[in-house]
Amino acid sequence: METSMEMSPSLTLEQMREHLATFVTDPYAVYQQMREQTPTEFVFLPAGVIPGLDESFKAWALMKYADVYHALRDHDTFSSARNPLIEKGIFPRLVLIADDPPRHTRFRRLVNKAFTLRRVEALEPWITQVANEQLYEMGRGEVDVVQSYTIPLPVTVIARLLGIPGEEYPTFKRWSDTFISALVSISLEERMKNTQEMVAYFGQIAAARRAHGADDLITALVEAEVEGESLEEWEILGFCILLLIAGNETTTNLMSNILNVLVERPALWQRLREDRSLVETVIEETLRYESPIQQLFRVAARDVEVSGVKIAEGDMVMVFFGAANRDPLEFPYPDEFRLDRDLRNHVSFGMGIHYCLGAPLARAEAKISLNAFLDRFPVLKPGQAPAVRQTVSPIVFGFQQLPLVLESGRP
Ligand code: HEM
Repeated sequence: METSMEMSPSLTLEQMREHLATFVTDPYAVYQQMREQTPTEFVFLPAGVIPGLDESFKAWALMKYADVYHALRDHDTFSSARNPLIEKGIFPRLVLIADDPPRHTRFRRLVNKAFTLRRVEALEPWITQVANEQLYEMGRGEVDVVQSYTIPLPVTVIARLLGIPGEEYPTFKRWSDTFISALVSISLEERMKNTQEMVAYFGQIAAARRAHGADDLITALVEAEVEGESLEEWEILGFCILLLIAGNETTTNLMSNILNVLVERPALWQRLREDRSLVETVIEETLRYESPIQQLFRVAARDVEVSGVKIAEGDMVMVFFGAANRDPLEFPYPDEFRLDRDLRNHVSFGMGIHYCLGAPLARAEAKISLNAFLDRFPVLKPGQAPAVRQTVSPIVFGFQQLPLVLESGRP
């Protein structure tokens, strides 16, 4: 296994992609080797590896838990808005997640008004019903749970939350895939077209909700007001796009990672069937052990020293959530999946002002989903076909294919 993230410029484009794919499939050996030396600067994007990218990009890797934790909390020093990849048009700018205060503060206050815990809780009985229906439709025998279950469920939930017909989820999935696919050949034009399609689609819905409100998140966004301020049209559309991207792939990967952890631990499956009070701990430990988001960017807004290393203003910084969650100084025996740890401080949903807005929804979906599997299947067995990790993006960690043999006790 290749234990480096840096790529030699002498590699061909195809070799670079292969090299990155190897890292994305199992980044943990690399983290283990690099963590103690970080912060360290490396070329994370050689020129040409992404269509539209004609220069290479360097970034500082932060992998120690303490460094990641402090960088996430120090948003004045580590900016989310100053991303050169966005400024160069390589990736479209997302609202909120790519904003700094004061814009972020205003925006977050307004969306907090609409995206409430109450709204998530109200959705739970419906999510339970859909989860059970989808499991029923999946049939029996060998099934790829990614295609049949962990992809459709989160898309259907977000569509419902936003007030959009669930039948349109293949289009939703295509939009979010195109957005996050960093390592496959998607042209800049294709990405732009994708974003334009999303803007046009959500624009129509927002206009309809302005005319006639409904009991959905888009109406709540249209109506949200804090101290006389409300969201502008482009902000609402930007937020809908963000939810589609931030809430889909992440939850799909969490659910697939949970099922994979459990198919490898049949005794734990039995224990969980007998004691459902452990379900939440299994979800939190999976979030730590196989973090659905492995890394995100910041840019140093001033000169700063991290673990004794000087990082200059304007430098890109890559914050490795996945590496921090396996730091032995914070989580003893980090490579073991254990239910007896203190999991309150894992960084899988981030920390500080950008802490994941959808964390309660992701946790609810994971809990409902795992309980539905436990209700239905006395055992969970791996399929004949191989489990395949996704390799389209180094940001996320999950499966492209996870075949399981499903034999039910009940219909
Ligand atoms: C297991 C599933 C999920 C994981 C691991 C996850 C992870 C994260 C992380 C790490 C951040 C912080 C980003 C940063 O610091 O730059 C974040 C932010 C965010 N997430 Fe999630 N997320 C998940 C599910 C969801 C869902 C279901 C939604 C919504 C439907 C959502 C919406 C958001 C939003 C809107 C932000 C931006 C918050 C801000 O910048 O103030 N996420 N998420």
